[in-house]
Amino acid sequence: MIPGARLVILGRQGAGKGTQCVRLSRHYVVPHISTGDMLRAAVREQTELGVLAKDIMDTGGLVGDDIMIGLVAERLGKADALSRGYILDGFPRTVKQADALDDIAGDKPIHVVIDLFVPREVVLQRISARRVCRDCGTNYTATGAERQPWICEVCGGDVMHRDDDTPEAIEHRLDLYEQQTAPLIEYYQSQGRLAVIDGVGTPDAVFRVLAAAVDGSR
Ligand code: AP5
Ligand code: MG
Repeated sequence: MIPGARLVILGRQGAGKGTQCVRLSRHYVVPHISTGDMLRAAVREQTELGVLAKDIMDTGGLVGDDIMIGLVAERLGKADALSRGYILDGFPRTVKQADALDDIAGDKPIHVVIDLFVPREVVLQRISARRVCRDCGTNYTATGAERQPWICEVCGGDVMHRDDDTPEAIEHRLDLYEQQTAPLIEYYQSQGRLAVIDGVGTPDAVFRVLAAAVDGSR
């Protein structure tokens, strides 16, 4: 049987966390838990959380820690995550969230925290070319040669810009990453729980290095 995994993937906006988590999730047969995807689903469904989160997300801010911790605690309590593990994408993003995650994980701690490292100038290029399916969230990279309207090859949904991929929101998100999330790299490194992976290369090449780091951590 394929062993499960409990992983956290850190990395700048546009580093490829979502892209790699889809692959890791298939490889280790564990759920990919993206707090950004959960919030975007709430926005689409216009739930109370979605209404609250929309403006914060569109301007590149962070949703409150207590809300995010509650959301993740509930998700990690479901049967699939309890039995197989999970890959967390976009959480934790602050030291408060990281402390809470240790409490939530309890006697089943995270196997390894990955820092998917990509320089700021490279992520800016990737984000400007990123298009996403509005319905299933599949990522695409625009080349300019796409047919319009662009239809998702996975689910048939509309492929478009993400609402928070505006130049102003991107700058703000990257600044917040340096202030709030980058300190987590030191936090996990000092505990000997961090693996730094070079996120520049083809998605398949990056995946091979990532999976080797995960396998080596257990
Ligand atoms: P979230 O959805 O987590 O967005 P993010 O952090 O801004 O990260 P991205 O999704 O932009 O980047 P990614 O690393 O996943 O890159 P991707 O794989 O798409 O969060 C959105 C918002 O939700 C936040 O701003 C905040 O408001 C809120 N939120 C979420 N979690 C929260 C929390 N815990 N606390 C508070 N608020 C929270 O790749 C980017 C592009 O590059 C794609 O086009 C892809 O195809 C391409 N690409 C990927 N890999 C490669 C490669 N190796 N080579 C070339 N191109 C590549
Ligand atoms: Mg993402």
